[in-house]
Amino acid sequence: MMPARRRPTMDTPAITFRPLLEDDLPTMHLWLNDPAVVEWWEGDDVTWPAVVSDYGPGHGDPVEHWIADLEGEPMGWIQCYTAADLLEEETWYWRDHLDVESTAGIDYLVGKEHRGRGLGSAMIRAFVRDVVFPSHPEWARAAAGPFQANVGSWKALEKAGFTQRAVLEDEEGDCVLMVMERVDLEAEPERPASRSVDNRVTAP
Ligand SMILES: CC(C)(COP(=O)(O)OP(=O)(O)OC[C@H]1O[C@@H](n2cnc3c(N)ncnc32)[C@H](O)[C@@H]1OP(=O)(O)O)[C@@H](O)C(=O)NCCC(=O)NCCS
Repeated sequence: MMPARRRPTMDTPAITFRPLLEDDLPTMHLWLNDPAVVEWWEGDDVTWPAVVSDYGPGHGDPVEHWIADLEGEPMGWIQCYTAADLLEEETWYWRDHLDVESTAGIDYLVGKEHRGRGLGSAMIRAFVRDVVFPSHPEWARAAAGPFQANVGSWKALEKAGFTQRAVLEDEEGDCVLMVMERVDLEAEPERPASRSVDNRVTAP
């Protein structure tokens, strides 16, 4: 299903989403090697060959990789997947708290020059509202499980409209399960912050 298009307002940033392309891999490599990202990437290999393998066209994972563009330039990466498909990785504890078959997991980053300006929370909210829910009627909610110590991440989720469902105490670091229900998002009046976001998307 193609989500509706809306026009950005003149005085606000335009965030749009498109599937990650091979040409985006150098930017991904740069973003993933930023120490502020490495800190939360749980030891993932972020060498060039690993980035090509994990994020390139042949990645083979049951995830959708998207690039968020700000006024036409890449500002961040965001992925979504059915939580049930990644139970052996980060979503294993989610099943005690929600139905993983009808839950979209999301992960994201914002390039460092764009952080701390409200763009991360705007990107997450726009992505859930304009890509995750419209393209996947089978998903009833979106969720993410950042480390509790990654304050910027769970605060951005909170600001995007997610609420805390559970905390997982883990020796690698406690994680917060943050959830946004489709019914809640659809029932909310449009917020000024999200009205400022352009909703153009390209279906994968
Ligand atoms: C997490 C991330 C996407 C947030 O994007 P952002 O554009 O910096 O976030 P926002 O500007 O929308 O900030 C959202 C809220 O979090 C707060 N915040 C952001 N970074 C913070 C930090 N490091 N410590 C404390 N609060 C922080 C902001 O102040 C804001 O709250 P406020 O409006 O009450 O002031 C971005 O910091 C990032 O890409 N980090 C590195 C990768 C990463 O950690 N990804 C998530 C893995 S789970």
